[in-house]
Amino acid sequence: MRLLTCFTALLLVGLLVAAPTSNDEEDKIGLRTQKFYHEKFVIYKAEHDIVNLVLLNLNENLISPETKDRDCLNLTLFFVEADVHQDGSRVDQGLYVLKEGKATKILDYGRDAAASRHNSTKAFFGAKDGLYVYNPETNSADKYGTITDSIIAIDMERFGKVIYILTEDRDVYKVTDNGEKKEKLEDVVKPKQIVLDYQNNLYFFSDDKVLYVRTADGVKKIEGLPEATGIVTIFKPPMIRENGAPILIDNESYFVYSNGSSIASTTKFDPKSIPTALAEMISVVYFAHDKKIYEYNVPISSKDLDDFLKKIPIKCESDSHTKGSVPSSKV
Ligand SMILES: *[C@@H]1O[C@H](CO)[C@@H](O)[C@H](O)[C@H]1NC(C)=O
Ligand SMILES: *[C@@H]1O[C@H](CO)[C@@H](O)[C@H](O)[C@H]1NC(C)=O
Ligand SMILES: *[C@@H]1O[C@H](CO)[C@@H](O)[C@H](O)[C@H]1NC(C)=O
Ligand SMILES: *[C@@H]1O[C@H](CO)[C@@H](O)[C@H](O)[C@H]1NC(C)=O
Repeated sequence: MRLLTCFTALLLVGLLVAAPTSNDEEDKIGLRTQKFYHEKFVIYKAEHDIVNLVLLNLNENLISPETKDRDCLNLTLFFVEADVHQDGSRVDQGLYVLKEGKATKILDYGRDAAASRHNSTKAFFGAKDGLYVYNPETNSADKYGTITDSIIAIDMERFGKVIYILTEDRDVYKVTDNGEKKEKLEDVVKPKQIVLDYQNNLYFFSDDKVLYVRTADGVKKIEGLPEATGIVTIFKPPMIRENGAPILIDNESYFVYSNGSSIASTTKFDPKSIPTALAEMISVVYFAHDKKIYEYNVPISSKDLDDFLKKIPIKCESDSHTKGSVPSSKV
């Protein structure tokens, strides 16, 4: 378990850096240009913009070191299409599931998805008329609970018992009791986006594009970030990430932590190459750009892992220490 956590943390730091290996100069300095979006990585072409990508792993035995091999994953990709206007407003074009190479629209007015990042196989969707849950048997969305709010964003705690929704009125609610009960979070004021990390800290920003995190200790501002002039996007952190989330501010990427600190990633995008969505799990990363979805495999060697651990101490989940696994570095 320790090993997997570390692998995942490795990938997170590599998240926006993840790329096909090449000796290209731009690649080396972490600059992403149009070249990054090569036709050979395209797995889906849409008619509209792709505004959300969320991965679900249907292999319940995920939490084992073997799953660093993506063949052990049973991946389902959810994505949301919309027409995005100049002012940022969206016209819904549906929520899709992409499975075994086949895309199926499962909600006409679905706007966001949230999938378990742990050993549960649950996924929920937020739509114009409330909450839905993914049914893998029928590959469709079933209504979940009694909530009928118009939902624009959704995330969940890791086992799927607690769901957070952002409504069109830009209020945030915590939803419990199988979708029957909702409670407004008064301290998260009119956010434009919400994302939860693995420890249930909530990252958000409002109209002024200033990033905040809500933890058990209250809401605090994230320090060390530049003032945003253009687009800000918080990405759902990959599975088993402990306390942070990747974000894009204009064309630069950062990781923000629940303690309010942030670090800059080396990855930068030329303004035409900014992804519209991304999702990552273990050793595979999906980017959406210009109405297409791209898939990149990220090879993780144990040498990379060792090199990484020398540079960055990370907190590992479990105390079970397998021989030959990573040293126990404590943050
Ligand atoms: C993937 O998950 C689906 C749904 O649970 C299941 O039907 C299928 O057999 C799984 N595939 C593999 C390769 O495990
Ligand atoms: C998932 O893992 C948690 C602990 O990490 C455990 O409490 C729970 O029972 C597990 N659930 C399943 C379905 O294996
Ligand atoms: C905040 O957390 C990050 C990641 O755990 C750590 O690297 C950093 O040193 C912490 N910063 C402070 C001020 O505690
Ligand atoms: C990022 O955007 C800024 C402002 O638009 C621009 O000056 C800068 O060159 C961009 N960086 C890259 C790597 O394209």
